[in-house]
Amino acid sequence: MASNSLFRRKDLATLLHNPPADTAAHPGDVQGAVSEGGLARHLTVRDLTALGIAAVIGAGIFSTIGNASHDGGPAVSLLFVFTAIACAFSALCYAQFAATIPVSGSAYTYAYASFGELAAWIIGWALIMEYAVGNIVVAISWSDYFTGLLEGIGVHLPTYLTMGTQSAYQGFHEVLALMQSGKPLADASPTQLEAYKTWNTAPTIFGDAKLVCDLPAFVITVLVTALVYIGIKESKTASNLLVLLKMAVVLVVIIVGAFYVKTANWSPFAPNGVGGVLKGVSAVFFAYIGFDAISTTAEECKNPQRDLPRAMIYALVICTVLYVVITLVLTGMVSYKELGVGDPLSFVFEKVGLDWLAGVVAVSAVFAMTSVLLVFQIGQPRIWLTMSRDGLLPKVFSRVHPKFHTPSFATIVTGLFVGVPALLLNMDLVIDLTSIGTLFAFALVCGGILVIDPLGTSDARFKVPYLNGRFLVPLILVVLGGLVLTYNRDNVNEFTRLVTFQEGYEGFRHQIPMLVFLLASVALAVVSFTKSLSLLPVLGLLTNLYLMTQLGISNWLLFGGWLVIGLAIYFSYGYKNSKLSPVQSQPVRRPA
Ligand code: ALA
Repeated sequence: MASNSLFRRKDLATLLHNPPADTAAHPGDVQGAVSEGGLARHLTVRDLTALGIAAVIGAGIFSTIGNASHDGGPAVSLLFVFTAIACAFSALCYAQFAATIPVSGSAYTYAYASFGELAAWIIGWALIMEYAVGNIVVAISWSDYFTGLLEGIGVHLPTYLTMGTQSAYQGFHEVLALMQSGKPLADASPTQLEAYKTWNTAPTIFGDAKLVCDLPAFVITVLVTALVYIGIKESKTASNLLVLLKMAVVLVVIIVGAFYVKTANWSPFAPNGVGGVLKGVSAVFFAYIGFDAISTTAEECKNPQRDLPRAMIYALVICTVLYVVITLVLTGMVSYKELGVGDPLSFVFEKVGLDWLAGVVAVSAVFAMTSVLLVFQIGQPRIWLTMSRDGLLPKVFSRVHPKFHTPSFATIVTGLFVGVPALLLNMDLVIDLTSIGTLFAFALVCGGILVIDPLGTSDARFKVPYLNGRFLVPLILVVLGGLVLTYNRDNVNEFTRLVTFQEGYEGFRHQIPMLVFLLASVALAVVSFTKSLSLLPVLGLLTNLYLMTQLGISNWLLFGGWLVIGLAIYFSYGYKNSKLSPVQSQPVRRPA
């Protein structure tokens, strides 16, 4: 295998003129209303911004922000700002790519143009974490809110139909272990007890297998997938409506909540220090995931080069403002100590006696999460479609429905890929995997801009503003290093102790992500100095890598395992079938 064939790149002309997949444009379509690949062009900048907000505001702000605020206190609002800055660097890079290569496929396509095929495959594989695995989290969270609402109106579904198999099984065994150690049942947490009861009382099927699954999570996934299958136009209308509703409720929460803020609750601002705040990285980052999903619809935009960059930045700015204000309102209304709940936004209004508003928030959470599901179910099939057109996935993934102009087979596979695990899995693991996969993709997109346009000289219609990083990158790193050494001495000492094996390999192992980050920082400082790299993509790369270090070695290992599976598939299928492979591009010999 020639090693450089792993880095074979698509040139821009090839990317911009990909042949249609399995179907031509619909005969009756107006020229320009259907892209070359047969997808219908319906989306404007307003639709795209709405799609971005639809994807971003969801389970993160309605659910996972609760535990983050509980651990970090009001200072989590600053984590939202820091994370937004990291996302903004990435958004600028995404925007430049989207303006340069306005075709489906998002970061996958961008990596194909900048790093070559192997990296493109890796990023496409990592994006499954963001879209499909992320949607598993959203579907499970949707089900939690939905069953809560049903309870509120007196409809009780049996818990064996509303709990993931893994959660029930785990909880059951935890309680069993507790009892075997001689402790009373009362020592178990309410969640463990519910899981224990559910597992014990669940009916059995196929002999002695327990029937425990999260049916609402599966059903909503199927319904949303059906909508996406029918058409992008219908999905767009539904998405715009859902976004309006969601924004209205978020604004009501902020305005009404502001009257109940007691500034005393903001003190102490960071009760558990920097460590407490950083515990929320995964949840806070999860709340931002989605603005990049807009770029997967490039072939369905009326004017992708102008509108995609704008929409991404608009969506990010709007969401950041809302998140920071909501966090301050939330932590101002009640003490951070009480916020460790799964439905913090309704919880705070119950606490101040506004039960009606708590109900409205719960209903809107269901709508908010439906719109996230919708956008991600739109995004994933379009990435698979692009990978299939390139020959890296079987051809059937690029089949476009002749009537609906949507990637039909890939949409159905996405529905199953999300729906089936949502029936079975527990949410915590999937949140971390989604965040690490997405951060990795963002880091590669920033790195991609450094490869295709290190000096900001491209003539793309949107460019990341060029600031010379020659002195600024090393200077910023030295200043930040100095601040850490001055104000975070204890952690620095602890890190030094662990990386010098003073607690053996186990202690060292957990510092590997931080070591990788430090080495990458030094390398980037040197290259920035020698090559005058563009500052903003370098900062994007560094901030995303830093956030990855906060997700811990076990998530790095799991994500590494996922990448290994992906590589096995690439080498056994994609490498040979790639359109860029010499075998595929050879003319077919006819018998004499
Ligand atoms: N940002 C999306 C959410 O919070 C994934 O649900």
